[in-house]
Amino acid sequence: MVNSLCLALLTSVPLLWFVGESAGMPDPARRDLLMREEASRQTGGLLALTAAEQKLDADLHRLKEQEMAATHFLPALHFFKAKPLIEKSAIYRLLQKMPKGGALHIHSSSLVSAEWLVKNVTYRPHCYICFTWDNSVRFLFSNQQPFPRWDCFYWQLLESLRARIEDNAGFDSSLIQHLTLFTENPDGEYPNQDVVWEKFEKAFIAAAGLITHAPVLRDYIYKGLEELHRDNIMYLELRSGLSRTYELDGTIHDKIWTLKMFQEVTSKFKQNYPEFFGARIIISVHRALSVSEVKAAVTEAIQLKKDFPDVVAGFDMARLYLVVNCLTILYQLAASCHNVIYFGL
Ligand SMILES: *[C@@H]1O[C@H](CO)[C@@H](O)[C@H](O)[C@H]1NC(C)=O
Repeated sequence: MVNSLCLALLTSVPLLWFVGESAGMPDPARRDLLMREEASRQTGGLLALTAAEQKLDADLHRLKEQEMAATHFLPALHFFKAKPLIEKSAIYRLLQKMPKGGALHIHSSSLVSAEWLVKNVTYRPHCYICFTWDNSVRFLFSNQQPFPRWDCFYWQLLESLRARIEDNAGFDSSLIQHLTLFTENPDGEYPNQDVVWEKFEKAFIAAAGLITHAPVLRDYIYKGLEELHRDNIMYLELRSGLSRTYELDGTIHDKIWTLKMFQEVTSKFKQNYPEFFGARIIISVHRALSVSEVKAAVTEAIQLKKDFPDVVAGFDMARLYLVVNCLTILYQLAASCHNVIYFGL
């Protein structure tokens, strides 16, 4: 079978070649026509550009050729080295201004830049820091000296610590490094995927103490919308586990509080930027959940969707290793609430 197929190919290839070549070189006009036909089938291929659009297209093309001919072709560099250069690139600035529609996959724990968390949030009063044994940090806002925890024996008030440190800029950049993957020496520090994942998880654990402080979360969401708006993004679907938030005196707020706050902040943002389309939440659960916990989480999400139809956009089983049981439960639940919620898997 395989042999006869090979034989067929061997005999037909020279035959095709012969047909193509028999009239000399392929006809350039026909080749051109084929190319144009193919281009017209691409997305937007049938759109006719206005004169201004054609000029923009030509300018963009020229910029692209320039950047490709430069000494450092940015996509070929490590992202940590390329990022500051990309931000200066003319193409990037142009793309930044263009309208983008919606950002549909942003996780709430990485909505705002780490720079803002460090330069703004950690400078607020009552912010405590603790350095853990595994070279990470924890933050906590509290109106009294926090109690030691299993991962944190010694909490220091950041304001007092900063008053004792001479190189505050250096200290701040070390904090930023705890909240991001950035390093000067990525190849040395991240010899394999496991090391990167570990650092990745640690960064989110470190940031959690800042972000889940209720007044910070309120500013954080507003700031996040501003940062997206600056990139001309018009709509956001934010994935969030709706973690509980805390006040200075230790009071804890539940998920409903977070959803209400999100609703308030979004409508305030829309008042200030009427062209912004809006923002909604996709409730997500962590992959480590057991089947019964998944079931409870889905039931809860369905209820929240009913209570906040304009805010909750869906449910996401983030990176969950699906087992048959889970799927069965999901189908049962989905059947009982069709049209209420959509499931992202
Ligand atoms: C910190 O952020 C808040 C909210 O975005 C803003 O009002 C305030 O001016 C910022 N403070 C500093 C020191 O940047």
